[in-house]
Amino acid sequence: MSCAPTPSFAEVDMENVVINEVSLRDGLQLHREFVPTAEKLRLLKRLVDAGIRDFEVTSFVSPKAVPQMADASDVFAGLPVLDGVSYSALVPNRKGLERAADVGCKTVNLVLSATDTMNEKNIRMSLDEAKATCVDTIEHAATLGVNADAYIAVAFECPFERRVDPRRIVDLTREMFEAGAGRVIIADTIGAAAPAQVSDLFSMLVPEFGAERFACHFHDTRAMALANVWEALQQGIRRFDSAVGGLGGCPFAPGASGNLATEDLLLFLRQCGFETGVSLGGVVSAIDVAAEITGRALGGRVMPWVRTQLDQANTEEVPA
Ligand code: COA
Ligand code: ZN
Repeated sequence: MSCAPTPSFAEVDMENVVINEVSLRDGLQLHREFVPTAEKLRLLKRLVDAGIRDFEVTSFVSPKAVPQMADASDVFAGLPVLDGVSYSALVPNRKGLERAADVGCKTVNLVLSATDTMNEKNIRMSLDEAKATCVDTIEHAATLGVNADAYIAVAFECPFERRVDPRRIVDLTREMFEAGAGRVIIADTIGAAAPAQVSDLFSMLVPEFGAERFACHFHDTRAMALANVWEALQQGIRRFDSAVGGLGGCPFAPGASGNLATEDLLLFLRQCGFETGVSLGGVVSAIDVAAEITGRALGGRVMPWVRTQLDQANTEEVPA
């Protein structure tokens, strides 16, 4: 048996990958104490300074359901307007869309969970009701000149109904695109997917819809997020959600833990030869702010090594 030689990094094309930062939404929504709007914006500023250009900054959901997001409109109003920087927000329904559009949000992200029980727990709707709500909201967004993307949550495993058949995800994806969604974000909400599932699912999705219409949202509950990113990269996916320090989790999905940490994703992409335009030293500085505002020690798996590099080199950037 022979192994194909691994190409050296110099031989690998530098291709761009987009990191979409979700720490202000997914990262904070589980955090119990309300984080003042100014602190959220301070974290955002550090992330922008680190070179991140794509963000999901908040959710226009019921403040009774997720009190941390009660200041969604204020967060949006306080965002710096910068060339090349895009802000999106999660919305569960028309009301959320209208609140978002009122404050100038140009891209909303709907959430369709793949099972009945997860939709019930998250947005108090059956799967069919959730689908109808997503379709209605996506269509309404078009009339307001707002782009609508759709998360398909618990796309691999549901905490209540276990394994999800990939054919169901293909069908839900088709319905979201037919309604007018620009992009579908495949979300492993509880971090349960194994790499083979990611590869199986995208080998069904990509030929039908095209890789450029997808993004991935992985949680690192079982330390498989980067292996899953790798599988998605092999299938041509070039956009990934992550949160600095590995903040995050869904309040309505038992067992969900933090998002894939931005620093882990960034170093991984860098070492695999992909270009992101993001500074690792800058991300470390954002982690420090995230730790201050949450009062929690944060950091992905790479952090001990990254801090050593920064200390040894006495610099603000991690040497390549
Ligand atoms: N933003 C703010 N308030 C909203 C809202 C929105 N997008 N949608 C509904 N509401 C308000 C209604 O106006 C109503 O207010 P009232 O009690 O003052 O009259 C109240 O919420 C209940 O409305 P109803 O339509 O009966 O909703 P519900 O109680 O069945 O809750 C959702 C449904 C979707 C609004 C709620 O479950 C929710 O916001 N979930 C978000 C979950 C989430 O963020 N999960 C994590 C991300 S995946
Ligand atoms: Zn998530």
